[in-house]
Amino acid sequence: MLICETERLYLREWVPDDWKRFQPLATDPRVLRYIGHGKPWTDEQIKSRIANWIEVGRQRGWILWPVIHREDAELIGFCGFWDGFPPDVEIGWRLRPDYWGQGLATEAATAVMEFGFRRWRFPRLISVAQPENKASLRIMEKLGMEFERRFPHDGVDVVCYSKTNPTL
Ligand SMILES: CC(C)(COP(=O)(O)OP(=O)(O)OC[C@H]1O[C@@H](n2cnc3c(N)ncnc32)[C@H](O)[C@@H]1OP(=O)(O)O)[C@@H](O)C(=O)NCCC(=O)NCCS
Repeated sequence: MLICETERLYLREWVPDDWKRFQPLATDPRVLRYIGHGKPWTDEQIKSRIANWIEVGRQRGWILWPVIHREDAELIGFCGFWDGFPPDVEIGWRLRPDYWGQGLATEAATAVMEFGFRRWRFPRLISVAQPENKASLRIMEKLGMEFERRFPHDGVDVVCYSKTNPTL
């Protein structure tokens, strides 16, 4: 099922065999450079995470969804919401390196943020990144998010940006 659409992309629900398409996003060191301690996921971890997203998506509705590139129908990343910092909801993104530098993450995140505020009525959204992850911080700024705090998370220094729901 379709979740949301942009000019060049759409987000849909996960299906079990997406695990193979998602593999580069969970193993490529360029993608993992600023994610936690950068440890790649095993095939079993990838399969179990996708099964979890399918289940949580069914029950709760919001998750990190796969991002599909319209032009070539490739699964190029994910974008959506994560519950790692309750009670806040985090907006997050990850793309395959062969699709970086075209404004695609900003395009996905802009649509997803609007969707979260309108459909899920989140009172606010946060986004957390390692301060060296300049591309991610730039996306937060382009989304109109503002710096909130810096703190250690799992032994890694991170910054948190936030934005209040303008429709409430
Ligand atoms: C973060 C990520 C999704 C960005 O994808 P992208 O499609 O290239 O992003 P966009 O093109 O939409 O925007 C990136 C912005 O950051 C800027 N940018 C990129 N690298 C930069 C750097 N090293 N220093 C400063 N700015 C940088 C770009 O110029 C662009 O800003 P602009 O539109 O003002 O020119 C991608 O790099 C990625 O998947 N990284 C690995 C996973 C990850 O770190 N996810 C986030 C975890 S918090």
